[in-house]
Amino acid sequence: MRTDTPQTIYRKDYTAPSYLVDTVELGFDLDPARTIVANRMTMQRNPDSSRRDIELYGEDIELVTIRLNGKTLDEGAYAIEGSILRIPDAPDSVTLEIETICVPESNTTLSGLYVSNGNFYTQCEAEGFRRITYFPDRPDVMAKYMVMLRADKEKFPVLLSNGNLVEEGELPDGRHYAKWEDPFKKPSYLFALVAARLVCQEEQFPLADGRTALLQVWVEEGNLDKTDYAMQSLKHSIRWDEERWDLELDLDRFMIVAVGDFNMGAMENKGLNIFNTKFVLANPRVATDIDFQGIEAVVGHEYFHNWTGNRVTCRDWFQLSLKEGLTVFRDQEFSADMIGTDTGRAVTRIDQVRTLRQAQFPEDAGPMAHPVRPDSFVEINNFYTVTVYEKGAEVVRMYQTLLGREGFRKGMDLYFARHDGQAVTCDDFRMAMADANGRDLTQFERWYSQAGTPIVQAETRYDEAARTYELRLIQTCPATPGQPEKLPFHIPVAVGLLGKDGRDLPLVIDGQPKGSTAVLELTEADQTFVFSDVPEQPTPSILRDFSAPVILKHGYSDAELVHLFNHDSDPVNRWEAGQRLAMARLLKLASDIALKNPAADAPNASARTAVLEQMNLDEVFVQAMRAILVDESLDPAFREQALLLPTESMIADQMDVVDPLAIHMARQFVRADIGVRLRAELLAQYQANETPGEYSPDAASIGKRALKNLALSYLCAAPDAESLALAERQFDEATNMTDRAAALGALVHGRAPVAPDALQRFYDEFQSEALVVDKWFMMQATAPTTDVATVRELMKHPAFTLRNPNRARSLVAAFCTGNAVQFHAPDGSGYAFWAEQVIALDALNPQVASRLARAMDRWRRYSPALQEHMKKALQQVAGQGKLSNDVREVVSKALAN
Ligand code: TRP
Ligand code: ZN
Repeated sequence: MRTDTPQTIYRKDYTAPSYLVDTVELGFDLDPARTIVANRMTMQRNPDSSRRDIELYGEDIELVTIRLNGKTLDEGAYAIEGSILRIPDAPDSVTLEIETICVPESNTTLSGLYVSNGNFYTQCEAEGFRRITYFPDRPDVMAKYMVMLRADKEKFPVLLSNGNLVEEGELPDGRHYAKWEDPFKKPSYLFALVAARLVCQEEQFPLADGRTALLQVWVEEGNLDKTDYAMQSLKHSIRWDEERWDLELDLDRFMIVAVGDFNMGAMENKGLNIFNTKFVLANPRVATDIDFQGIEAVVGHEYFHNWTGNRVTCRDWFQLSLKEGLTVFRDQEFSADMIGTDTGRAVTRIDQVRTLRQAQFPEDAGPMAHPVRPDSFVEINNFYTVTVYEKGAEVVRMYQTLLGREGFRKGMDLYFARHDGQAVTCDDFRMAMADANGRDLTQFERWYSQAGTPIVQAETRYDEAARTYELRLIQTCPATPGQPEKLPFHIPVAVGLLGKDGRDLPLVIDGQPKGSTAVLELTEADQTFVFSDVPEQPTPSILRDFSAPVILKHGYSDAELVHLFNHDSDPVNRWEAGQRLAMARLLKLASDIALKNPAADAPNASARTAVLEQMNLDEVFVQAMRAILVDESLDPAFREQALLLPTESMIADQMDVVDPLAIHMARQFVRADIGVRLRAELLAQYQANETPGEYSPDAASIGKRALKNLALSYLCAAPDAESLALAERQFDEATNMTDRAAALGALVHGRAPVAPDALQRFYDEFQSEALVVDKWFMMQATAPTTDVATVRELMKHPAFTLRNPNRARSLVAAFCTGNAVQFHAPDGSGYAFWAEQVIALDALNPQVASRLARAMDRWRRYSPALQEHMKKALQQVAGQGKLSNDVREVVSKALAN
């Protein structure tokens, strides 16, 4: 942990590395208490740099010896300042030999070389390699690696690293060794090793070019019954990359290793992907449909990085979205193609829109707002964000929308032709897209450099006599930290016009037929598009398929929204119309409840409940919901999405002063009222969407279970005894975790008398399954009845530990981010708890602590009294003498004006 004042690093300060590394030979004598790392690297002066000194980074490692061209350097021949080791005036051609010692068993940061459940693993992205050896640990230094691993054979029978196994054998004293060679040059962040007691599922898989590759999924003993889906997803990923992009696996061997202690989802180390167990282990008994979908997406994501990230990598960490945005886009397309149907595709798109609104729009509107390509950072680990990943993927998707699928593919081909084996920038990607298509994408660059979510205001005018329809689009973008003014973006706005019969009208612009959906290119602040030959006043369907990550404002009437909800040929906008109908009601209700007690921070519950008693959802809305619910021509998966209400945090984003309790009460009321008013229809759908027989995570079955379980949760929101009995029966009889967990959730959130007993039975049955125990904690952490005191009690449970990131997230972070009512308790006790846990976690694992720290991002949007408590908690954390750069950056940005 560094205690010096954190430094801000600026993108504009980029300079080329002074030396390049050709080869790296690493020797590991692995011992949990004292691992010796021998590093021999050959280096050349970089002709693109004017600097003459060698600059290496090292952190939390003990330097034993350093030799340059065979001669030991004495202490005067180099300088160590903080994490930089500098050798001045070095010769052009250098062989450096460095020996260091590290202590994996006390590395709780899970960055560098660490021990998890007695086994060795590494995590080097972004800057973990410097915790293993001194090295020019920056992504534009790409080298060939040869790795020798030595360890006790009994304790660590499996020794893995990147590339190909070239030799293995016995050593004295019960030790053994394995030598691995990676034939591809790579940046240090893609280095990995595993030394462990593991077992694997493996198979030979034929590749498109006639070769075969050995595929392996490595897990701890006892988990081999949970590797099938990851293996299947890996095979699908390889096939898909071949078929859709002509990209092949370039290795003879591809390994996935699952580890229980991991900071993120997974890591794309060359040929040796290391995964959080959450994204590998699954069978119907322990994993939900969402878990299965997550595994497919993350296995795909890491595999796809082999081309977008590894073969072509990032010049510097400011370019992170070059690989992450592009690879998220690729995994999104993969998941959509795996379903294969149009509505299936649309349902995945709706999920993406929900994620953006739930997490990215708030980030864009908060103190940590940053462009897709940030201009500065204190700690790079804080920039693995929804903006870089999800908004980055939207930016990539917009190229495809603007250039068409074929044009986009041409751009990708040119990108690989130009940059294979290089470390490049987001501009290089944009230029490949522009050059392959003969397009000027200069203005498009603003999507990379300007933060904030653009707002597009739409105004329309129909001229009956002229048969023209004008669509005026006005774009603005709110100020974000460091960026008071914004220039107009290049925004693809996909538009259709619905006639009175609900069908798409044929579109004509400037005399050109445009089919039923036109992609308008909004490039100015204020621009009007004119459709001609429009026979009647249409209903506009704007931003079809969510063609740009913007907030669309338009004064739709309820009647127009119902028309779109019933008929729009674009399923995303059809869903969107329902969201707008629901949001209007939720907001009205929430503000009515909030107004019942405007000033006080101890909300007067009975006054608020009185508002609800007079409330009644209007028949227009209920009828719209009913129509979708019972429409058997629609996929159950789509119906589930259409009936799902905007989340509490989406509602909060729309309120001037956020009132968490009012929002919760409003949303609960709407759910319960739907549960009562549509009771018969919900029960019928509950029965119609059962999935008897053997469990299968195919899209159709997942959709049915989703709709059935949504119906159950609405029925239990009321909650009457009969509905709770239904949930209880489902809990008892379910043959898969999806139905099991949904039923338990309905009982816990519906405050069923049997809930405590059901929770206990669930724990007893699954206590040896760590990922299910996480679910068990999370379900309780997010129950509105769980207050801070209850969370503190749960933390005393023998299964709880702050040291395991999944466990810490499932209880502590789940409470702080997923239980708004209790977290924002008027006495500030939730915030005090947050401060305490951020500080405790920071001493163990700054990356996990820093994510938790962000729970307070939007503190300025609450009532003055709550803000006062929140500020105190933030200041308490900021006032700690010993704090990681990670947490310090987050809390100081939150407190800044
Ligand atoms: N590159 C990884 C991914 O695509 C992200 C990642 C895994 C990561 N582990 C990390 C980033 C640790 C920072 C720190 O998903
Ligand atoms: Zn990634």
